[in-house]
Amino acid sequence: MMHFKLIYISPNGTTKITSEILKKAIEKDGHSLELLDLGQGANRENFQIILKAINKGDIVGFGSPVYHMDMLEPMKGFFETMKSTGEVYSFKAFLYLNYAGITSGKAFINIAKFKKNIFSNFRLFSF
Ligand SMILES: Cc1cc2nc3c(=O)[nH]c(=O)nc-3n(C[C@H](O)[C@H](O)[C@H](O)COP(=O)(O)O)c2cc1C
Repeated sequence: MMHFKLIYISPNGTTKITSEILKKAIEKDGHSLELLDLGQGANRENFQIILKAINKGDIVGFGSPVYHMDMLEPMKGFFETMKSTGEVYSFKAFLYLNYAGITSGKAFINIAKFKKNIFSNFRLFSF
């Protein structure tokens, strides 16, 4: 059994629904999962709350919609905050994106560039 955390942001609710569907499917496979909404309440102001909730060994999914050919700004801010702490985070991670199909290829390129820049100093694995 593995423990998952899904950190998501969803201004219009679609990525929230996607996260809930993922939660059901992953739990059905016998794993545990916690949903963390980056856009809600105190999490909005203080990314440290969520950063502290991530434990070594967790599998962390980051969920964002594509807005303006890119990941949503608070999610980028979250990754930048992660980098600025200077800590070494060691967990398996994946990214899931919702988009409407407009210039989505460009969106993936933009996000890949951002990820490469931010995560060069991190032990971040994709699967
Ligand atoms: C302001 C805005 C900008 C968007 N920009 C893009 C875009 O560049 N490419 C795309 O494929 N979809 C774009 N979309 C569509 C969203 O990615 C899509 O509706 C997504 O499901 C919204 O997720 P949410 O409901 O979790 O907020 C945009 C939507 C909005 C409201």
